[in-house]
Amino acid sequence: MITTATNTNDPVIVIRNMKKSFGDHKVLDGFNLTVNKGENVVVLGKSGSGKSVLIKCLMRLLEADAGEMKIFGISIPGLSNKALDELRSKIGFLFQGSALYDSMTVKENLEFPLRRHLNKLSKEDVGKLVGAALENVGLPDIENKMPSELSGGMKKRVGIARMLIIKPEVLLYDEPTTGLDPITGREINHLMLDVQKKFNTSSIIISHDMNCVRRTANRIVVLIEGKCYAEGTYNELKNSNDTSIKQFFD
Ligand SMILES: Nc1ncnc2c1ncn2[C@@H]1O[C@H](COP(=O)(O)OP(=O)(O)O)[C@@H](O)[C@H]1O
Ligand SMILES: [Mg+2]
Repeated sequence: MITTATNTNDPVIVIRNMKKSFGDHKVLDGFNLTVNKGENVVVLGKSGSGKSVLIKCLMRLLEADAGEMKIFGISIPGLSNKALDELRSKIGFLFQGSALYDSMTVKENLEFPLRRHLNKLSKEDVGKLVGAALENVGLPDIENKMPSELSGGMKKRVGIARMLIIKPEVLLYDEPTTGLDPITGREINHLMLDVQKKFNTSSIIISHDMNCVRRTANRIVVLIEGKCYAEGTYNELKNSNDTSIKQFFD
């Protein structure tokens, strides 16, 4: 059984000295990150800087070469498959591009994360969970639609509903607004803030969309050359004189 950090002041996510190379290409080179309870931390970095690799190493979809990674105080590198599976079931992950299953209805997409619990849930309970998850993202009554019938913003909302259905305390968003028009992007930013407030979630948000960064970040970690190059609030970093940081705000 996994005990969570809900009632303690311990950080919910800790990453220390994470390293990951592909051949002789060093992508992460001693990266550090901490996320406290209820906090939205944005990892800001250029395209190709290793943001997706970072989140994949954290979830062990990729194996890091080195580093300490803890979620809820549980050390991730040594976990058995079973324990890893249990930990993953408490974490909501929004993949880059939202990645719905095109051949499944919205309802079937939302049931997917529940599959490990389906034998314990009645059809009615599942229906209620799906309905509530869609309501949380402002899309009631679209259960029977196919992803191809949805706009980009709606797909993203369904992706967020799918991450919320397991009632996670930790959310990992990979480029939640990339590819959306500015107005839809703004709606998704608002939704992410609503979710944070309503469920007191702790999140890593990966982005280089400065509107998303400005609106959703309680704190920003700048990823440059595989390291945490700088850390601060939006305003602190915006006022930086460092050219490597200034370029994100131009
Ligand atoms: N599975 C992989 N094999 C080899 N190289 C990879 C792999 N995944 C990512 N990379 C490389 O790692 C670097 C960082 O990728 P990524 O984390 O996806 O960047 P981004 O910051 O845009 O999310 C890129 O140069 C990419 O080509
Ligand atoms: Mg990426």
